[in-house]
Order: sequence, then structure tokens, then C-alpha cells
Amino acid sequence: MSQVSLNASQEMNDNLESGTMPDFAEIRAQFPILQQSENGHPLVYLDNGATSQKPLAVIEALDTYYRQQNANVHRGVYGLSERATELYEGSRETVRQFINAKSIREIVFVRGTTEAINLVAHSWARSNMQAGDEVIVTEMEHHSNIVPWQLLRDQLGIRLRVLKINLAGEICLNDLKSMVSDKTKLLAITHMSNALGSINPVKEMTAIAHSVGAKVLVDGAQATPHMTVDVEDIDCDFYALSGHKMYGPTGIGVLYAKEALLEAMPPYQGGGDMIYSVTFEKTEYNVLPYKFEAGTPHIAGAIGLAAAIKFLQSIGLKHIAAYEAELLAYATAKLLQIEGLTIIGQAEHKGGVLSFIIDGIHPHDMATLMDQDGVAVRAGHHCAMPVMQHFNVPATIRASMGVYNNRDDIDRLVTSIEEAKEMLI
Ligand code: ALA
Repeated sequence: MSQVSLNASQEMNDNLESGTMPDFAEIRAQFPILQQSENGHPLVYLDNGATSQKPLAVIEALDTYYRQQNANVHRGVYGLSERATELYEGSRETVRQFINAKSIREIVFVRGTTEAINLVAHSWARSNMQAGDEVIVTEMEHHSNIVPWQLLRDQLGIRLRVLKINLAGEICLNDLKSMVSDKTKLLAITHMSNALGSINPVKEMTAIAHSVGAKVLVDGAQATPHMTVDVEDIDCDFYALSGHKMYGPTGIGVLYAKEALLEAMPPYQGGGDMIYSVTFEKTEYNVLPYKFEAGTPHIAGAIGLAAAIKFLQSIGLKHIAAYEAELLAYATAKLLQIEGLTIIGQAEHKGGVLSFIIDGIHPHDMATLMDQDGVAVRAGHHCAMPVMQHFNVPATIRASMGVYNNRDDIDRLVTSIEEAKEMLI
């Protein structure tokens, strides 16, 4: 680890113990990419909903792994392989602690949230649902939590039901109470909307689904970088997360599932490492969680994810949530001063996402001009087309915040919007 990141993480640990807010300028300094320019301007990166930038701790963990520790896991008797295995399995334990799962047997490494949801659809749902059974999703779901259930609807004849959102972008618990019945087999919901920032009351929603015997899957892709997640407290049956949204590498994510469910579920993919023994007549599967990890896993990715989790923990998720809430309030007030700008999604419980439209301007034109100012935001439907349909807009501009963003970034965002507006209207 470099001296900068060592000093910074030491200081953050001290701050955490003393309960004071860490120095977020120091945290920002740990992200090399933020020191570069785009189109002649210092980069303002506000597309964290799409992917986050990586701190030195993660970059260095990946570098060290490939320079000094690389070998396949669970297969070699030589020291290098044993050390790689220890690192990989140590990462699983780091994830377990991070989300407060009971056992490492409940932590399955996958490519990301999309694969985690598809695993549940292919394995659990196919063996637990039949024609007429219902999956309930919310209207604010990402396509990755809609399409797998539509595929299942086409293949099994299940019913996909949609819990509507209000104009602020919130669900209503009473609506959910009146939707669930003994036909409901799964409630599949996002913890935090990528398009709106709305934070759902997943614990209360889980209790409602459980009251009729349904299982609950929570898409945590957007939540895990911003807030404490405790799967035991939520009591959800499945929780999915993506490493790259939370300052870790791409191509690695986690499916958490309660052990008894995983135990009863058939494998999702067949291949090496997920077996105990194979003959042409019969295969015995490996124990959990390996039954669901066919093939050589993304070893470096898991190690990088663990480094990202330690980075988040060194700051403290409570501190991150408080810091980002303050920045969101600042940014919301500033954006609302821009004439013709409407914020899409104003939930009372909301993370650092600002989706907006501006009268008479197409979001793509605006975002393209903002790029000329070095401001990176996403324009489009954000893989949540039903959300756009709900608000009757083709697309929004989305500024999504991370731990390194600050008031200067927001001021640059606002200036860039004002200047682009001048050019486009
Ligand atoms: N789901 C990612 C986003 O919200 C790609 O941008």
C-alpha cells in the first residue's frame, strides 16, 4: 500500500474510533483517476450509479495478486495455490462480515448482481414455482430484476405483478399488503433505485412477503456502496451485490442466500469445482457454496472486492451515508435553482442520485455538452425503462454520487448545466 493510502486509512480508523467524520478530501486523494483531466478540465465523475472509480487499496490488491500471488484455487498442493486459496476464501469471509451473513456457505461469488438474480431465477424459481405462481417486483426495478422473471413467465407460465410507485418515486407498504397472497412466491425488489435514488423499506417489505410464505430477493447493487446492509436484520432470503459499484473490480459480485435454500437448490451451472465426484453415470455435487461456483472463479476480483469492502469499512458506512446525504441536500438545493429543471424522483428516503430533465433539452445533448466541461453524467433510461414510462419521459440526465464527490463537483455540475442550457436553448 502506498504511503498516502496508509496514512489516510490510519487516520480514518482513528476518526472512526473517535466518532468524528473522516477527511473526505484525503479519501478523494486515494483515487488516481480523479487527478486526470477530460477535455482540458479536471474530471468531475458523477456516474457512480453506472460504476465507481477504484481507490489505491483496490488497485494495489489486484496488482499484488497478479505480480505475487496468482494461482488457481482449491486445486494445487503447492504453496502459491494454497496462498491464493486463502486469499480467495478470506475474501468470502470479508463479504460475510460486511453483510452480516451467518455463514460463508451463504456467500456465492458471481459476476455481479445480474448473474445473482439470474441464478435465483434459474435455480430456485424453476424448482419452486409453477404456472399461476406470482413474482412481485416494483415499478422502479432495473431491467436485470424484470427480464429474468419475464423469461420465467414465458417458460413456466408464472405471473409477474408490479407494485406501483407514486410521483415521488416511492412504494406504498399498504399496496404491497393488499397485493400479496398465497400465490405470491417471490418478492424481488431493489434496495435503492439506480434511476431515482429511492431507498425502499426492504425490512418491512420482507416481513409482508414472509407473512404469506413468499421468499424475498433484494437487489443491493446500488445500496451496498452507500449504507450499512445487514441481511440478518432485513431477513431477506436472497441479496445480490456488484463489486464494481462499491469501488471494487468489475466482473465480481455476490449472491447471498439463506443456507437452507441454497442447500435445496440445484446447481446453476455445471463444471469444475462444483462437483465432489463425477462418473458418466452420476455426479455428486460439492458442498456450499462451491456447488454454485462452476469453473475457475474470478479470484483477483474477489480479492479486489475484499479490498474495496475494507476501504469502505475504514471510512465507516455510517459516515459515508451522512456525508452523501449532506452532499445530496446541497446538490438538490442547487439544481432546483436552475430554471426549467425538474428532478425526477424525490423520495423521502433517498440516496445520492439526482435524475433530472430540463425543459426543451434532450438529456443526451445536455450530457454530451457536459462532457466537454469534464463532467461525466449518464443520460438515458438507466436500464429502467418502466421508470421513464411512469414519469412519461424518454430519458433523464443522472448525476450519481460517490464517496469522493464534493461541493466543488456539484458547483461544476451546476455551471456546466447552465452553460449547456445557454447553448441548447
Ligand atoms: N445499472 C447501471 C446504471 O444504473 C449500469 O447506470
